[in-house]
Amino acid sequence: MSEPDGRQVAPFGRRPVTLTERREHGAYVVLVAPDPHGPAPQPGQFYMLAAAERWGGGPDERPFLPRAFSVQRADAAGLHFMLEDVGPGTGRLCELGPGDELWLTGPLGTGFSGPGDGRRAILCGGGVGTAPLAILQDDLRARGVPAAALLGFRDAAHAAGAELLHGARVATDDGSVGHHGLVTDLLRDELEAGGAAVVYSCGPPPMLEAVRALCAELGVEAQLALEAGMACGFGACFGCVVPVRGGGYLRVCVDGPVVDAGRLETALVAGAGH
Ligand SMILES: Cc1cc2nc3c(=O)[nH]c(=O)nc-3n(C[C@H](O)[C@H](O)[C@H](O)COP(=O)(O)OP(=O)(O)OC[C@H]3O[C@@H](n4cnc5c(N)ncnc54)[C@H](O)[C@@H]3O)c2cc1C
Ligand code: FES
Repeated sequence: MSEPDGRQVAPFGRRPVTLTERREHGAYVVLVAPDPHGPAPQPGQFYMLAAAERWGGGPDERPFLPRAFSVQRADAAGLHFMLEDVGPGTGRLCELGPGDELWLTGPLGTGFSGPGDGRRAILCGGGVGTAPLAILQDDLRARGVPAAALLGFRDAAHAAGAELLHGARVATDDGSVGHHGLVTDLLRDELEAGGAAVVYSCGPPPMLEAVRALCAELGVEAQLALEAGMACGFGACFGCVVPVRGGGYLRVCVDGPVVDAGRLETALVAGAGH
């Protein structure tokens, strides 16, 4: 089912899927599950995931809400998710393996669009923000749109995540792989090389803000995949709002997670970014 604006919307209710694959890429875990009853996701959309068993709620535990994850790839094997273990929810999901069940709701939210007008794409990711850029790269390649991929990581263990994209240029904070410095150094070089482009970005808030500011300075369109703490994922709780330029708020889960950078005064919004 899709909305009048072409956005793919999730069927009602959560549904169970069974994992068929678990891979490690350095500091990241990729889980794969066929989703025969769900619509195909669009790049930049996300799912709310929960493990079917031991998802909190034990005698001394709080029950966990589902957690939000970008779809990293969708292919004949199913939906792929790229996870970084940062707390109890991601920790539990990272333990899962083939045969284990997940509950999922999705695809949710508004994804990437364009680039259109013969412009090329520049994908700029930081850390686990690599995830939605992989499915976007697959989509652009299928449409024959040229797309450079620039990825920043803190160290070599995290830079192993770059193998999830084709031909990515890498920057690391500690210089252990690729350029020693910020991924926005690579982005400035790429933009100054010329040619009309649209920048697609996902990563931690300081990186997204640097991308927003650089693109504003150079007059380049940018689409930013934001992150916010999410309780429901489908517009009901208003837990995910971020302020927009000129006043008011948007809900990251339905108006985003992909937002035109021009709508934001700053991408340094509380709780936003991987
Ligand atoms: C649209 C969207 C897409 C996402 N895609 C991915 C993905 O592809 N891969 C991935 O590993 N993670 C992704 N995340 C982040 C993931 O949802 C959180 O890391 C996860 O909810 C943390 O849960 P936890 O129980 O492990 O840790 P918690 O104990 O809930 O949190 C651990 C730490 O992360 C912070 N935190 C938790 N959730 C968020 C959030 N949503 N935004 C900012 N800070 C947060 C907490 O304040 C805390 O410091 C995405 C989030 C959103 C909103
Ligand atoms: S997460 Fe509930 S409204 Fe966005």
